Amino acid sequence: MKNIVSGIQPSGKITLGNYLGAIKNIVNMQNEADDDTNLFIFIADLHAITVYQEPAELRKSIKSLAAIYLACGIDPNKTTLFIQSEVREHAEMSYLLQTITYIGELERMTQYKDKMIKQVQGVSSALLTYPVLMAGDILLYNTDYVPVGQDQKQHLELARTIAERFNNRYSETFKVPEPIIRKIGAKIMSLQDPTAKMSKSDKLEKAVIYLLDDEATIRKKISSAVTDSEASVYYDVDKKPGISNLLTILSCCTNKSIEELVEICKDMNYGEFKKMVADELVNKLKPIQERYYEILNSKELDEILTNGAQKASYFANKMISKVKRKMGIGRK
Ligand code: TYM
Repeated sequence: MKNIVSGIQPSGKITLGNYLGAIKNIVNMQNEADDDTNLFIFIADLHAITVYQEPAELRKSIKSLAAIYLACGIDPNKTTLFIQSEVREHAEMSYLLQTITYIGELERMTQYKDKMIKQVQGVSSALLTYPVLMAGDILLYNTDYVPVGQDQKQHLELARTIAERFNNRYSETFKVPEPIIRKIGAKIMSLQDPTAKMSKSDKLEKAVIYLLDDEATIRKKISSAVTDSEASVYYDVDKKPGISNLLTILSCCTNKSIEELVEICKDMNYGEFKKMVADELVNKLKPIQERYYEILNSKELDEILTNGAQKASYFANKMISKVKRKMGIGRK
């Protein structure tokens, strides 16, 4: 039996980076999976509240993300789709694993250091322990593979360390999970600063393509993407980060290799090249957006999430009982 787990935070609007770096790969893995594979995909709302979220907005974003997953091709007959906070074992597992995680390990996490300096109301202890919650998400389902973007690699390494430490201390319990990070699309960059990651929390709207942006907005954002003054389309991340990022986006949307695309685009000027990127992106996102609006207000969505939470709880509960038994807490 192989288990695959991944999650996305419902904090703010879902970006093209989330889609190309994670959701698209999850859907591919789902579609290629055999009967011996279990997929658990969730909406990481407990992660989102490590920084303050306006409650009404958060509730909307949770449902919106569920509809996005389905619109992108998550099939509830093949994948267990659920909301993290509706499976209580996630919070419980996080506490149990905190007992074997060192503060120094958490303080070294680059995402913690980046987010910490942005907090104006003080840094919550949950922001520090966030990677343990994530390790718990993964280890609860005895996971083999975790499809994620590049920015989650360090968190995955910690999850592996925690799994190995637990196994050494309390005897073999967890599989040691492996990250699945694709070569192309694992780090989609900001359109305005192509040396920085495209991020949900970017203050500059035009730096980020949101999955639900309408056609005119997508075209405007791509046409104002920062490039360079060389006027020649080829792939070189150091010399041409903007063009290389657009080539990556194009490659993910067309399933053509970067080499093939450079051959096709090499004589285009930047205006023509950007138009091609925008056309392909609109082609890719339009059907997703149409399905999204159909699903969002359907009764089916609630049913899927209820069933998903029940199924995930069944697996998670078994694992939590085993972990507690191994640690010697409770009565048996
Ligand atoms: P989050 O919500 O920040 O991002 C969700 C997924 O999208 C990927 N991603 C990107 N990929 C390519 N380019 C980008 N610019 C880009 N931005 C984001 C992320 O790598 C991620 O795969 N802690 C996680 C959520 C989580 C999780 C888990 C993931 C919680 N528990 C267990 C896997 C397994 C997070 O904050 O992702």
